[in-house]
Amino acid sequence: MRGVVVRRAREDDLAAIAGIEEATFSEAWSPETFASLLGRDEVVVVVAVEGGVVIGYGVAVIGEGEAELANLAVSSARRGRGAGEALLSRVLDHLRESGVGRVYLAVRSSNTRAAELYRRFGFREIGRHGSYYAEPREDALVLAVELES
Ligand SMILES: CC(C)(COP(=O)(O)OP(=O)(O)OC[C@H]1O[C@@H](n2cnc3c(N)ncnc32)[C@H](O)[C@@H]1OP(=O)(O)O)[C@@H](O)C(=O)NCCC(=O)NCCS
Repeated sequence: MRGVVVRRAREDDLAAIAGIEEATFSEAWSPETFASLLGRDEVVVVVAVEGGVVIGYGVAVIGEGEAELANLAVSSARRGRGAGEALLSRVLDHLRESGVGRVYLAVRSSNTRAAELYRRFGFREIGRHGSYYAEPREDALVLAVELES
């Protein structure tokens, strides 16, 4: 995506990240949660920046050769122009370089837009958690991809 840079997140990105999170999710992570993730070796936090403004972020947590894509969002006005794809691509590259073989994630069953993006990156459905989400109550699809080293 032209004009968008994806890089590791820094402390001074936290307010923008938390703002997008709050506007995007009914059960939003707190600013303190994001702050606690920065600087942890097993956590990857990346941001997409356009014109100096943070427009999206992705978070993955690594453990024992596997990783969970724990969060991904792009601010609503900037969606549909490739930022989500750029973020996901960068996170998966980082995980591959870190020796991760398998990545999984949970997504609301109604979130076809996000699921489509994940499927394009090779994610496949491996299960479903009943009533996993609240506000509104909804199943989670569990998706996973094997990364080639
Ligand atoms: C899922 C999400 C991160 C994708 O980010 P994005 O920047 O819109 O993603 P991209 O532009 O790279 O790809 C989105 C795809 O959605 C479709 N799309 C089309 N118009 C769109 C629009 N106005 N808004 C969003 N997506 C659109 C396109 O099919 C696009 O794929 P394409 O490249 O084949 O055209 C973003 O929609 C988002 O933040 N959603 C809310 C939070 C969320 O659901 N996160 C995932 C939780 S598991």
